Amino acid sequence: MEYAGKIAVVTGGAGGIGRGLVVALLTRGAQVVIGDIEVPQLNATVEALSELGQVRGIRLDVSSGESLEAFADDIYANEGRVDLLFANAGVTSGGGGLPWEQELNDWRWCFSVNVFGCAGTVLTFLPRMLAAGGEGEIITTSSGDGGVAPVPHASVYAASKAAVSCFTEALAHQLQKTEAKVGAHVFYPGGGLLDTGLWTAQRNRPEELARVKPRPPAPGTTFAEFKAQLEQLGLPADVVDLDWLGMKVLEDLDEGKFILGPNIEKFGPLLHERADAIAAGQLPPTLLH
Ligand SMILES: NC(=O)c1ccc[n+]([C@@H]2O[C@H](COP(=O)([O-])OP(=O)(O)OC[C@H]3O[C@@H](n4cnc5c(N)ncnc54)[C@H](O)[C@@H]3O)[C@@H](O)[C@H]2O)c1
Repeated sequence: MEYAGKIAVVTGGAGGIGRGLVVALLTRGAQVVIGDIEVPQLNATVEALSELGQVRGIRLDVSSGESLEAFADDIYANEGRVDLLFANAGVTSGGGGLPWEQELNDWRWCFSVNVFGCAGTVLTFLPRMLAAGGEGEIITTSSGDGGVAPVPHASVYAASKAAVSCFTEALAHQLQKTEAKVGAHVFYPGGGLLDTGLWTAQRNRPEELARVKPRPPAPGTTFAEFKAQLEQLGLPADVVDLDWLGMKVLEDLDEGKFILGPNIEKFGPLLHERADAIAAGQLPPTLLH
């Protein structure tokens, strides 16, 4: 795919995986607009990446329909169109723990960003992209956790990402059935350990959706514990270069894949086991225990 001259939008692009996507897009010649809730980080990223190409930042809260509309209005008024839309912003309600120790506010916050934020981003932009009639691609960021199988101690996050994957699959099918030149893809970040702000996602949690009770201590929720779990499963546990990850996504997009990201094939055996268990009416195996 030719990226030069394309207008790309990346939500949650101020840091982490989204920043890697922005670097890749700029490197390949696209013009990028980042929407992110963390304004100081957003400004710092825009300043740092300006030497790579044309990039600007707009404050965005993907959980707010109004914020999304204002974001899209600004882009259509200034850049004039959107060719590539990355619905990437996401959080984890964090801390792990037993499913019944999660609170409704954990669900509300996680789903407001990961599910309603992703769907809202698509609902805000896709009709405008379709009306423009040009070619376009929508890429949602899901996770192997939920997209492939749930990590049981991350029940809320896994459920949110299962929703993102399912929604994106439905979207891709429906787009294919139309004359539209817009496609949909889902991105599963992976290839090793991702040292991003997701581990401290609580920094962006709104006061009104705070937990009521303190979270009980839970295993598998620190970077070190997660690393040990990956090693135990024989999965890659080296820290991933996020700029490389962004490039890998664009390469997979070039190849016309629906699922973007490294090491998808490593999920093959687990997916077969899951399919067999489901077809036999049994509880399918999970990703991590
Ligand atoms: N880090 C991982 O291990 C991992 C694995 C699989 C999938 N993911 C997914 O990758 C995506 C990026 O996460 P990351 O790991 O880079 O974390 P990150 O915290 O570094 O990046 C997330 C970005 O989203 C922004 N954000 C948070 N809430 C927002 C809101 N309401 N509106 C707009 N922006 C908001 C944050 O400010 C941040 O810049 C997420 O969807 C995440 O679920 C991460």
